[in-house]
Amino acid sequence: MAEELIITNNLSKEEKYQELYPQIFALIQGEDDLIASLSNMMSALKYGFGWLWVGVYFVKNSELVLGPFQGPIACTRIQLGRGVSGTSWHKKETIIVPNVDEFPDHIICNAASKSEIVIPVFNKNNEVALILDVDSNQLNDFDEIDKKYLTQIIQLIVPLL
Ligand code: SME
Repeated sequence: MAEELIITNNLSKEEKYQELYPQIFALIQGEDDLIASLSNMMSALKYGFGWLWVGVYFVKNSELVLGPFQGPIACTRIQLGRGVSGTSWHKKETIIVPNVDEFPDHIICNAASKSEIVIPVFNKNNEVALILDVDSNQLNDFDEIDKKYLTQIIQLIVPLL
């Protein structure tokens, strides 16, 4: 396993994803533990892009419970349909929020968060098993490119569910 990520400066967002994807793939290759793989994946994304917070919440019974993350401390439990993450779980769809202040019922875990993307991950029964939550301290930081590549990246852990 490589000890350090290769992160080139001045790449476009898409080039950065293309540089990171094979490295994240290699990081979790051969590791069948879900928590270990998610932990390294969250670190690679956080340090690759410099976002404020990158992490997952697991669906456990009737709520989301905090899983591996990188960034400031966060809310540990979120109810179905609450906040961006609970809404993504409820609607079973990715949500991009350009300005969290304009999202009704946004849950403030950290006041520095300005925009976010939340992507649900499905198990073999097509139920949401976890959600990926990425927060930025910049407004309007996420778009369809992030949706495309972050979905591909988080999908890598589906065989471990
Ligand atoms: N802002 C999220 C809560 C989770 S954190 O940002 C880590 C939400 O509204 O669901």
